[in-house]
Order: sequence, then C-alpha cells, then structure tokens
Amino acid sequence: GAPVEVNISKLEPGQLIRVEWRGKPVWVVRRTEEVLKQLSGLDGQLRDPASDELQQPEYAKNGVRSIKPEYFIAVGICTHLGCSPTYLPDSFAEQVVGVNSGFFCPCHGSKFDMAGRVFQGVPAPLNLVIPPHKYLDDVNVIIG
Ligand code: FES
Repeated sequence: GAPVEVNISKLEPGQLIRVEWRGKPVWVVRRTEEVLKQLSGLDGQLRDPASDELQQPEYAKNGVRSIKPEYFIAVGICTHLGCSPTYLPDSFAEQVVGVNSGFFCPCHGSKFDMAGRVFQGVPAPLNLVIPPHKYLDDVNVIIG
C-alpha cells in the first residue's frame, strides 16, 4: 500500500479524522490540553503504560506515544479481535471508559486511553498500534 498524506491544518482540538492506509483505518486525533494532562496520571490503570510489550516506532516511545504531543496517530483496530473502537470525546466517556475521553471497543468492551493504551481488565492484550509516519512540514503528515 502507498503512503497516505494527511493535512491536519483544519483539525480542531478534540477532533478525530480517519484515513485509510493499507486497508486499515488510521486515526489522527488532535488532543486537548486537558487530555494531555490526564494521560500522565493513568499509568496505574493501564496494562502496559510504557508500551513495553509491543514494537512501536522510536518516536512514539514517550508518555503520549506521538511525535507531537497534540497529535495522536494510531491504527484504529482493536488488538483483541480486530473491531474498530469508537472514539468517545465527551462526558459519555466518563461513564464508559472512566476518563473524560478515550476509545471503546463495542465488540467485547476493551477500553483505551487517548494514547491508545489499553486499560486493565479488558480483553485486548496490547496497546493500539502506531503506524510509521512523519511530518513533511507543520501541517502535513505522511502515514506509511
Ligand atoms: Fe475489541 Fe474484542 S475486538 S474487545
């Protein structure tokens, strides 16, 4: 599959766009300040907070799993049996995921934080995959 170029200049805080890369959904999310602050406090609730159990690009080996903290890019496929989790950007997430935004897999209830890290006590074994990507300039990112 060919790399996919995404322009993120119109992405509002809290917004997610979905592109297709190699037949898979890839999400580009603009995280809010609030979400970024929250991420550092979730480690105790996560199965693998530092993503030690999966291979991911060097540039995603940090607390927010991204090149630029504000933008989170992940393959939108649950690591359990491959459904696509739902993005819950609002207070509904509080009830479902337990934090004020995150991803919820409708198939068997796996929950992920806004860095795609899986919560404890759900079927998904691993964090969401970060696809290879790089920024061409401030607003254009290439996936693949
Ligand atoms: Fe997502 Fe099973 S496929 S929880």
